Amino acid sequence: MKKVLVIGGGGREHAIVDALSRSARVGKIYCAPGNAGIAQQAECVPIKDTDVDALLAFALREGIDLTVIGPEASLAAGVVDAFRSAGLKVFGHTVSATRIEGSKEFAKRIMEKYGVPTAAYRSFEDYSEALEYVSGRPFPAVLKYDGLAAGKGVVIAADLKEADEALRDMLVDGSFGKGRVVVEDYLEGPEFSFMCFVDGARVYPMPLAQDHKRVFDGDRGPNTGGMGAYTGLPFITEEDRRFALDGILRKVAEGMVAEGCPLTGVLYGGLMKTADGVKVIEFNARFGDPETEVVLPLLESDIYDIFEAVASGTPVADLVWSSDVTMGVVLASKGYPGHYEKGFPIEIPERNMKIYHMGTAMKDGRLVTSGGRVMMCVQRSSDIAEAREAVYSDVDAVRCDNLFCRRDIAHQAFEA
Ligand code: AMP
Ligand code: GLY
Repeated sequence: MKKVLVIGGGGREHAIVDALSRSARVGKIYCAPGNAGIAQQAECVPIKDTDVDALLAFALREGIDLTVIGPEASLAAGVVDAFRSAGLKVFGHTVSATRIEGSKEFAKRIMEKYGVPTAAYRSFEDYSEALEYVSGRPFPAVLKYDGLAAGKGVVIAADLKEADEALRDMLVDGSFGKGRVVVEDYLEGPEFSFMCFVDGARVYPMPLAQDHKRVFDGDRGPNTGGMGAYTGLPFITEEDRRFALDGILRKVAEGMVAEGCPLTGVLYGGLMKTADGVKVIEFNARFGDPETEVVLPLLESDIYDIFEAVASGTPVADLVWSSDVTMGVVLASKGYPGHYEKGFPIEIPERNMKIYHMGTAMKDGRLVTSGGRVMMCVQRSSDIAEAREAVYSDVDAVRCDNLFCRRDIAHQAFEA
């Protein structure tokens, strides 16, 4: 039986650990650093997800057969490169391939070179040049700080005044660190997430999902890490999906091979269905969160086999997905994504429900909140309305004084 190490400690990693725990080949799962929910299914080890040396030493000492990486920070820190140099099997991209997420300019150049549709853009280092370009373009303008900015790097400026403020912030005041800004045209349409397992030019699609980034119902309020997600998107036709797979994800995978930095993990396309066809908003070099929590429960094949095949450079033999749909609702700390308090006790009833922990901890033997996004309830059914009813019933059964959630997850599925 195999020993697996999962790196990360959020809901995404809990869903990965949960999928691995269904594998017939896995005997022992470790998670670094994990969380209180993951600890029920894996042995958590207190190593930071970017501490490459400590992670490598642990994997060598424990004789880990396969390591699976959740967060982009671990990829960008070079975990994959270090593990491979030490002869270890690892699922995730090298630092060089991770640029498809870490550098927006790199991603734009790849898309331009390989004919992948995305918003027109220009990239700037100089504030005055950026401002001059923006003033000659239609509003709203999209300004993206180039570099990993923990989701805070995108500003949609309604007018020149807002654009000026954002550009000053990004290029003059240096509050993000020294960098560049990508200015791009504003696109409109429903967004969706398309994740694929990618091994060089081999691309294996997962079911489509939709995230809900804004904190309040009706897609209002500030952006968050994601307040809920579902699968089974009625507004995406099979033709759209085919185009996204062959005209977007496959082209990028082939482009990355040609550029000498092949992908060997998950490629996540953040896509938009515009009036003009499906276009790319962004790429991530990892599983999405919270999309993973609604996608992986639908996997009927053994996930260890998939991770191992990609990590070994051999074709994935078996990839079967359930035709059910899933829906997940995030319970977040009141105040999130702004200031919030931690340490509130959580009571979860004994009943058949699937909960992925995102920010929980154990304190004096009790489960407590320890993050902005705390947990996610997930339900599945052949019918999205049934999944919705079941998941909100679960949400209402969780007892905690400091949690809130959105009540309209999957609203686009019901409006379609
Ligand atoms: P990103 O970090 O690139 O995914 O951007 C965060 C969010 O900003 C996206 O999920 C979109 O909702 C929005 N966004 C980014 N780029 C554009 C664009 N070109 N047009 C419209 N909205 C965008
Ligand atoms: N759900 C968006 C992300 O994982 O970046």
